[in-house]
Amino acid sequence: MPKQIHLAAHFPGVNNTTVWSDPASGSHIEFDSFREFAQIAEAGKLDFVFLAEGLRLREQNDRIYDLDVVGRPDTFTVLAALAAVTERIGLTGTINSTFNEPYEVARQFATLDHLSDGRAAWNVVTSWDAFTGENFRRGGFLAQADRYDRARSFLQTALELFDSWRGDEVVADKDRGTFLADPHPGAFAHRDAFFDIAGQFDVPRSPQGRPVVFQAGDSDEGRDFAAAAADVIFSRHSTLEAGQAFYADVKGRLPRFGRTREELLIMPAATFVLGDTEDEAAELAHEVRMAQVSPATAVAFLEQLWNRDLSDHDPDGPLPSVDPVAGENTIARGRASVRMHRDPVATAHEWRAKAEAEGLTSRELIVEVTGRQSFIGTPATVAATIDEFVQADASDGFVLAPHITPGGLAPFVEQVVPLLQERGVFRTDYEGTTLREHLGLPLRQPGGAAAAAS
Ligand SMILES: Cc1cc2nc3c(=O)[nH]c(=O)nc-3n(C[C@H](O)[C@H](O)[C@H](O)COP(=O)(O)O)c2cc1C
Repeated sequence: MPKQIHLAAHFPGVNNTTVWSDPASGSHIEFDSFREFAQIAEAGKLDFVFLAEGLRLREQNDRIYDLDVVGRPDTFTVLAALAAVTERIGLTGTINSTFNEPYEVARQFATLDHLSDGRAAWNVVTSWDAFTGENFRRGGFLAQADRYDRARSFLQTALELFDSWRGDEVVADKDRGTFLADPHPGAFAHRDAFFDIAGQFDVPRSPQGRPVVFQAGDSDEGRDFAAAAADVIFSRHSTLEAGQAFYADVKGRLPRFGRTREELLIMPAATFVLGDTEDEAAELAHEVRMAQVSPATAVAFLEQLWNRDLSDHDPDGPLPSVDPVAGENTIARGRASVRMHRDPVATAHEWRAKAEAEGLTSRELIVEVTGRQSFIGTPATVAATIDEFVQADASDGFVLAPHITPGGLAPFVEQVVPLLQERGVFRTDYEGTTLREHLGLPLRQPGGAAAAAS
């Protein structure tokens, strides 16, 4: 039996995947865009829609970064509204464990799981930067090194809150006038270095018991966090080789946490460009890349690596000849750290060598090294490639980010999904009602919290 493929749709928003200037591009704030996007995804029987998160507007050179979409509405509010206009598709929200509190987040996810009849998922991210912290009057209160300690404690606490209700406490017997069968539902007490809370959780057990848990960090510690506690990893390793290496690494960590390979799915972010012929797709992909990397965006990407003002740099000339400024990045603020460069000087040297060897201008180099198109071709080639990647354990499926919002997902749903269905590797209809069922993950019983996150 071939592996079944999991597919999801990422409402892309604020990065340069999104070509907001395309005439077909819609709003990134208005609900109609979210509704249309989710309904297209649901028509394709995709597993879930995915929302990323940014808690402060990005800045570069002390100005709001407005080359990409600016602004993003609140995740829980959008997902709750989507629950009302969709029936089956999962609803995944990225929610930070550094700037929130477990009680609030647990209430919101338990509520979303109720409103959606068991379709909620939580992508636990640990972005910690002090710039974002200023919005919460806590600038710099958490060192980078502590982000996963807090995340582990945060998730563990939230799981205890979800599990504080077993599901049989409410009888609501109208004849006898008895509401509760158990006089102490939702009792909890959690004390550790991060949280010291006790009381009664006020949302009764939700259909899934708890949301499906995602993780999206890439560091060694982040991978361990996922191997210990996540159901799904949202990764950035979408090529065959990098995907296989990441897949083997993370699945190989599971036995250490007493878990099996089936308990954790790996779904990289991926983009696509379709054409009637391979040539047409390649040509369109080039046009999209040039729109994603305008001359100004190319210079902005250089500044992010070089960590210095390069506003006078010619994007059609060679790369800067000076080295990046070492140390803390003071030029670009508010970006997910996974997109920042870990060793800027080494990367600058690599880029220079590549540009010289291939005769590339600065902009052409940025087009090459920030490549955002995973699958380019006819629907038949794209379906075959996705299937090949999944069967070769480069992933368990993909989270698709179209470059046009909201309509850019439709060609994939109309042209690629039927071919995957014909190949027998993608569902022709939803079999269950909950996201956990769509993902083929085992059901969680109350009390599973300690085992899942220890
Ligand atoms: C593909 C990808 C996309 C991500 N997008 C976001 C995001 O939108 N918002 C956010 O706060 N964190 C996001 N993150 C996660 C943070 O980058 C992560 O929690 C942080 O980098 C710390 O984890 P790490 O050091 O293990 O990478 C993303 C991660 C990945 C892999």
